[in-house]
Amino acid sequence: MKPVEIKPDVFWVGAVDWVSRDFHGYSLSPMGTTYNAYLVKDEKITLFDTVKPEFQGEMLCRMAQVAKPEDIDYIVVNHLEPDHAGCLPQMIEMIQPEKVFCSPMGEKAMKAHFHYEGWPVEVVKTGDSINIGKRDIHFVETRMLHWPDSMVSYIPQDKLLVCNDAFGQNVATSQRFADEIDRAVLFHAMKEYYANIVLPFSPIVLKTLDLLAEMKLDVDMLAPDHGLIFRGEDVAYALNTYREFAEQKPKNKAVIAYDSMWHSTEKMALAIAEGLQEHGVDVKIMWLKANHHSAVMTEVIDAAAVIVGSPTHNNGIMPNVAKVLNYIKGLKPQNKIGAAFGSFGWSGESVKVITEWLESMSMELPADPVKVKHVPNHESLAKCVELGRIIGQAIQTKVG
Ligand code: FEO
Repeated sequence: MKPVEIKPDVFWVGAVDWVSRDFHGYSLSPMGTTYNAYLVKDEKITLFDTVKPEFQGEMLCRMAQVAKPEDIDYIVVNHLEPDHAGCLPQMIEMIQPEKVFCSPMGEKAMKAHFHYEGWPVEVVKTGDSINIGKRDIHFVETRMLHWPDSMVSYIPQDKLLVCNDAFGQNVATSQRFADEIDRAVLFHAMKEYYANIVLPFSPIVLKTLDLLAEMKLDVDMLAPDHGLIFRGEDVAYALNTYREFAEQKPKNKAVIAYDSMWHSTEKMALAIAEGLQEHGVDVKIMWLKANHHSAVMTEVIDAAAVIVGSPTHNNGIMPNVAKVLNYIKGLKPQNKIGAAFGSFGWSGESVKVITEWLESMSMELPADPVKVKHVPNHESLAKCVELGRIIGQAIQTKVG
């Protein structure tokens, strides 16, 4: 387990988690993740963030090849979530640092997490900086990206932004740099991460990107706390990709997410797709027993329409459909068209329940829901095709 020198005397000393498949409900399948920590060797040896507690040994192994723990002077805590600060108490005990830097909200979170006494905590705000020898570290708070305590650290001498969760990707690789892996894999990992973690904070992302541009930080490396590091031209790629995600401009695309008991609702989903495709819409049909809710969300982020189907089940909707609607709503996607469909046996409440969910997300609903008793026939499938056509037309109007 070797450290990786990402700049002269700046080392990645994090851990690769090949095994985890869940991050508080967001599926890490099939790629796992990394917890990135960075060690800067200067007059004041400085550690940026730590790792998930069970990976402490891996981080220590890498760190010890750069500096003895007791020789480390400062710890910068950019974020208190346990995947980055979970082993902070053990590190403070081992390192006995001269100072531990965090944001004002970070201090509050640190107290609430660790109930410590006597730690040498020094609060830093946006605009504050410290000198560690040949280098300065400038701090910028990034509140709600994605926790209140979040901040990033900039080292101008290295043109390096240690950016915490921002620009992260959940991907376990033996490579450390974004330019070393397939670009489509990288983009998908960035999109998945943004859709499932950062999306609700998109207005703040746009403001922060503007702030960073106004500050005219000279950056040639973005070092996130998950996944691969962006260097050179990839810095602009990462910034532009985040702006694109945050703007949430809809594409000519629809997601049909459904569950089915006896394939009736499934047949309806396929018929709706036919109507959409008549308008040239890129359709993603996602059966919810085969597609995790985080995979659905990764498709929803750039879709113009979200069409949801469920048979009526116990006077409501099927559990997988309730789960995905709840998940999508929590991530606050903007600017979507919605529609509901489903089969029923005797009471038929499912389309009403789905419609209420879609309305609660402020989706435009240009088509009446379609519901079918028991098994769809030619006539009812034609209604589904027509629903697809109406949504397809609305998508064309929306995306131009
Ligand atoms: Fe990667 Fe918010 O923790």
